[in-house]
Amino acid sequence: VIAIRARRLITCDPSRASSENPLSAIEDGVVALDGGRVVYVGKASAYEGAANYTEASLVTPGLIDAHTHAAWMGSRHGEYVQRLEGVQYTDIAKAGGGIQASQRSIAEASEAEIAETLHARLKRMQRLGVTTVEVKSGYGLLPELELKQLRAIARVRALKNLPRIVPSALLLHAVPASYKDRREDYVRLMCETCVPLVAKEQLAEYVDAYVDAHAFSVSEAEQLCTSARAHALKIRLHIGQFSDIGASALAVKFGADSVDHLEHLSASGARELAAASVHACLLPIASFTLAQAPPDIENLRRAGVRMVVASDANPGTAPSESLPLAMAFAARLYGLRVSEIVLGVTRNAGSSLGLAHESETRGLLTVGARADLVLWNLDHEASLIQPWGTSQVAQIVQDGVFV
Ligand code: NIG
Ligand code: FE
Repeated sequence: VIAIRARRLITCDPSRASSENPLSAIEDGVVALDGGRVVYVGKASAYEGAANYTEASLVTPGLIDAHTHAAWMGSRHGEYVQRLEGVQYTDIAKAGGGIQASQRSIAEASEAEIAETLHARLKRMQRLGVTTVEVKSGYGLLPELELKQLRAIARVRALKNLPRIVPSALLLHAVPASYKDRREDYVRLMCETCVPLVAKEQLAEYVDAYVDAHAFSVSEAEQLCTSARAHALKIRLHIGQFSDIGASALAVKFGADSVDHLEHLSASGARELAAASVHACLLPIASFTLAQAPPDIENLRRAGVRMVVASDANPGTAPSESLPLAMAFAARLYGLRVSEIVLGVTRNAGSSLGLAHESETRGLLTVGARADLVLWNLDHEASLIQPWGTSQVAQIVQDGVFV
């Protein structure tokens, strides 16, 4: 048994929460771990185990980054410089850059090289306090290349002492050049051929699509959702990044776990998401690098949508590996409260990834949950949202083991 004694222990346990203590913090708390699970959470004074504690100031659940494209290769810094000079993201994409440029990097790399790059990236993310990462494919575009990217993700997922990976197959991201004039054929190929292959090899838990005015339509995404459901794959969707084309209704219809971006979302859309328990995943680094106005947070709050904050780590719209940076932007640029941000990278992020059931509970510290947690060199969770620019982690526990 490992027992950690914290001056301030953030549990995120909903059963302990109140309006004064939304994160269920315990002053002078102990969290004890055994066999990869939490076996005690509570006041130090009530703990009856051996008192050879590891001491810490602030302890939180391990952070969960619920939206990343972390298996990318190459760099698109040239595009970023163009965008700084005023060129639009959508125009770069039309000229064969953007997602197509990342596809060329995936095509050139071997599965082992992609795995190695992802491995190194996940280690850097872990040093920032991240213990679970959703990783999407989506830069292969063609079935073979999507499968290569997903198999690379699966290789890294099998390794120990790294953040837990939740893999998503992002199968409608952009139409590849070879299908430029055969859009319908492309959508059919991804839905009818690629989804079954992904399911058969168990390469993903989720299927994702980029649903937007210059990406895929609601009816194209619906074909993908139908196929995903038929193959027992869960659904998360990129929606409302550039315009609201009514994709929230699709997410509700198919019981998606999460819709992500949401710079554009109607009030009725927000209410429908809340009623259907679809999480809203906010990606402030993307809207920062695209110089976009933030989503209407008050709209989501009023509707009672469960909010998640994620990095969107990708080489185009969010060239960053830092979930803490996304947290800092969520505070300053989006106006989220400290407690909303902390829940958005812990409990809500976990439930948005289906990590809220008995054998696999992550993002909160309760008896039986997986023992993923962070010991910080900080004394209060409010300092987690400051833009440090460096790691403030003292130690990480991943599945019950100090890494
Ligand atoms: O989440 N919105 C679409 N996809 C990614 C990034 C795409 C890219 O590589 O530019 C995003 O922003
Ligand atoms: Fe994304």
